[in-house]
Amino acid sequence: MRTYTAIAALQSSLRNCRQQGQRIAFVPTMGNLHEGHLDLVRKARTLADVVIVSIFVNPLQFGPNEDLDAYPRTLAADKEKLFSEGVQHLFLPEPQDMYPEGMALQTQVQVPDLSETLCGSSRPGHFTGVTTVVSKLFNIVQPDVAVFGEKDFQQLTIIRKMVTDLCMPIHIEGVATARDTDGLAKSSRNGFLSADQRSLAPLIHETLVSCRDAIACGFDNFLQLESHARMQLLQAGFEPDYFAIRDARTLRAVNEDTEEIAILAAARLGSTRLIDNVRLNLNPVSDWGMLASP
Ligand code: PAF
Repeated sequence: MRTYTAIAALQSSLRNCRQQGQRIAFVPTMGNLHEGHLDLVRKARTLADVVIVSIFVNPLQFGPNEDLDAYPRTLAADKEKLFSEGVQHLFLPEPQDMYPEGMALQTQVQVPDLSETLCGSSRPGHFTGVTTVVSKLFNIVQPDVAVFGEKDFQQLTIIRKMVTDLCMPIHIEGVATARDTDGLAKSSRNGFLSADQRSLAPLIHETLVSCRDAIACGFDNFLQLESHARMQLLQAGFEPDYFAIRDARTLRAVNEDTEEIAILAAARLGSTRLIDNVRLNLNPVSDWGMLASP
């Protein structure tokens, strides 16, 4: 596995791959890699000849009161995992490589509307930090395909919109959320949970699944479902940020054109903010009726 910190060295190596007709798949990450990230890498390997992973804890997507310094950095272990998965190229830029004039002077890429709802309301500027760094990384790597997790469903939706709006010739592939056996979505933040919080945490997924089951059975009072779910989480000891039933494509309210519903939740357990989502396809494609996704 070749490791690069300099943008120019990476670009020259990828130029050679392209000249040899190789397809390039890209997996951008912030490190502290777990099974969820490795699922993205495995998917990437099926889609291209060459896989490149980046690890960059992007300061532009952290708010002033967020956990940038506390974000877990586990580079040695990450490298071993990527090597075992057969990754050929690892890009490890430093903040001064990505933001040579500092963050305040950086040109920004903003996807309006989608970036302001749900996580965007409680984390102002977060998604603009994400779309800015992802655009830069896309311009550096110029992949044929880039792979993202469905756990961050709002992020995936925003990146798809950015790629369409900016005519970027990159296929965006989403990968199903990796979960522990009790349903908790794998996340770098799970490591911050105490033993008691960890045993409570799967309730987010259970609540999402119950809500999806109720909708699949025909219950259509979404406001009531949302407030019931929020109350359940609150009573169990969570501090819910949102629990929302939305159109999976627009992340707006469900309407008669909605083909797929996304049910999304964010809640704090102590100081750890957890997010998760499940989806429900409203187009009966077979005798089995509506199709649920993880
Ligand atoms: O999902 C992440 O880890 C980050 O938001 C990303 C896409 C690598 C951008 O920094």
